[in-house]
Amino acid sequence: MLDVVKPALLGGQPVFEPSLPMARPQLPSADALLPDFRRILESGQLTKGEHLAGFESESEAYLGVNSCVGVSSCTSGLMLCLQALKRRLKSGQEPKVAVPSFTFLASITALVWAGFTPVFVEADPATMNIDLEDLEQVLKTEAPCAVLAVHCFGNPVPTDTLQSLCDRFDARLMIDAAHGFGSLYQGEKVGKAGWCQVFSLTPTKMVVAGEGGIIATQDYELAEELRIAREYGNDGSYDTQFSGLNARLSELHSCLARGSLKMLESVVAHRNQVAEDSRRLMEGIPGLRFQSITPQSRTTYKDLTLVVEQEQFGLTRDRLAEALQAEGIPSRKYFSPPCHRHRAFKEFASRELPQTEKLADGCLSIPLLDTPTAQGIAQAFRKIRQFSKQIQAGTS
Ligand SMILES: Cc1ncc(COP(=O)(O)O)c(C=O)c1O
Repeated sequence: MLDVVKPALLGGQPVFEPSLPMARPQLPSADALLPDFRRILESGQLTKGEHLAGFESESEAYLGVNSCVGVSSCTSGLMLCLQALKRRLKSGQEPKVAVPSFTFLASITALVWAGFTPVFVEADPATMNIDLEDLEQVLKTEAPCAVLAVHCFGNPVPTDTLQSLCDRFDARLMIDAAHGFGSLYQGEKVGKAGWCQVFSLTPTKMVVAGEGGIIATQDYELAEELRIAREYGNDGSYDTQFSGLNARLSELHSCLARGSLKMLESVVAHRNQVAEDSRRLMEGIPGLRFQSITPQSRTTYKDLTLVVEQEQFGLTRDRLAEALQAEGIPSRKYFSPPCHRHRAFKEFASRELPQTEKLADGCLSIPLLDTPTAQGIAQAFRKIRQFSKQIQAGTS
């Protein structure tokens, strides 16, 4: 006989059968998009057309920035911005960029691809964003030419503080805003601060193109250069200006992104509501701590992420993930292992990062779907915690 009260890992009934999806992208309806898709296909203009231009100008209006440049991915956007930074290195400046290790690996691959040495900086255990004290230390001792900060899971970095730190040490501020389309820092949309911010448009993000990215900048000259860069480095003269990429965002992708951008405010409001409900429903469970959101700000909750304190919860993060899986609840260990532990980046791991290691060992992102589902997830966490000793020991 199955037992409803026991965790599924110990023979009880799973809370969700079949299992939940990790994410459910909220997309425009097919009916809304098909007339435009048909027009694109019938026109034969599949790239470099009105939808790319429309998506760029609508993004500029939404973010309140001078220029937006659509690209094939956030990674290619970062690569091209960093390549533009390389062309601006002042004499005597070393090609080093300060970056958190607690980020998705693409932040680092873009840096290395563009010929920079990443200098890994600690993460703040509460906000999970770059640690400002450690960053100051790195700026003092390593003199990087730029800082690449990340709005971790959409939680906006304090761009005013970061900008003044960067100004003090003559470093440029760049932001990997992959998770941040729709985030607000002190009431303002993120996108304007720093030299450039690069957003991702993949299906787990807030504005979805399928695949794609968009670069926001106040610097018109940079925007012009990036338009050439995404076009192989060809400004139209067929006399290559520099070695760029084919990093264009197609018309079909741009068209989907336009439809998705129209839904952005309601998507972010929904995610915030469900996240708030989840946090309330899970309040008081010992050993669980949610990401702290930057004050007077709005995150997108690209992911709903918590840290498992093994001592108080009674289980390791990995064992908890197994117990959740048995309940039909998938989870993700973003960003574990942290980037300085990756095979390709170990050679750059020149500093001790104990806070980052601890955070990466404990972090767990859980599905954020709707409030009734959040109730089931909270129920699963409570019964797992109640039986934590048996689960950890592997006995029923
Ligand atoms: C922090 C961060 N940076 C960059 C990227 C890369 O984005 P894309 O897949 O659009 O290249 C991601 C992807 O999820 C990300 O999480």
